[in-house]
Amino acid sequence: MKFVVCKDYDEMSQWAAEVVRKIVNEKPNAVLGLATGSTPVGMYHRLAELCKAGEIDFSEVKTFNLDEYYPIDPSNDQSYRYFMNQNLHNHINIKPENAHVPNGSAEDANAEGKRYDKMIEEAGGLDFQFLGSGVNGHIGFNEPDDALVAGTHLTALTENTIEVNSRFFEKKEDVPRHAITMGMAPILKARKILIMISGVNKVPILNALASGKITTQIPATMLQMHNDVTVVTDEATAALMTESF
Ligand code: F6R
Repeated sequence: MKFVVCKDYDEMSQWAAEVVRKIVNEKPNAVLGLATGSTPVGMYHRLAELCKAGEIDFSEVKTFNLDEYYPIDPSNDQSYRYFMNQNLHNHINIKPENAHVPNGSAEDANAEGKRYDKMIEEAGGLDFQFLGSGVNGHIGFNEPDDALVAGTHLTALTENTIEVNSRFFEKKEDVPRHAITMGMAPILKARKILIMISGVNKVPILNALASGKITTQIPATMLQMHNDVTVVTDEATAALMTESF
């Protein structure tokens, strides 16, 4: 694993956007795996700026988001489809039909997972996957457990995730209890992975990533099995780590 320490969140976001710019400039029809949450917002804003300046062209790019709440209508302002439109897709020249998010209103969520994995495969697999990590080490919504599901599937959110994500909702009761998430298999098949982790509450996850141990109780540790992963953090977070990369 490569470990990069940036000055602060802004520099992390610029750095990550630069990685995406290079990938897309080298392969205009690149297939990108994307995430929601607070972590990628700065990178998305930077990518929108770069696109406006003509420094990146998304016209042939395909994107696949990691996850979506279930059940949820894509037009709901709490859906991840809505989040992606607001934070990225509406501000870049991607073709709407090329910007994929699992369908939170599919009748059969597990069938939707299978359809999603097939679409990723048919697109040639992910050239790149951007990741954040939960404070519990979840990747996508692959939550800590004794065993993880390989493919894209319906999952229950843990109490911890519901608590943490309640900051985006009026009240905790409004947080959906389920989601469709890419499984660890399509994520680990991505040719290149960048995971951005910052904040005092995520220091234990960085330590776990640096520890050399792999456990499904901290799904992020599985990234150690991949041969092209970059972990990006900021100086304040790195200073609190007890393990070194
Ligand atoms: C989001 C996702 C999650 C988040 C994680 C971190 O699509 O898959 O795994 O990356 O929960 O969220 P933030 O960035 O809000 O701390």
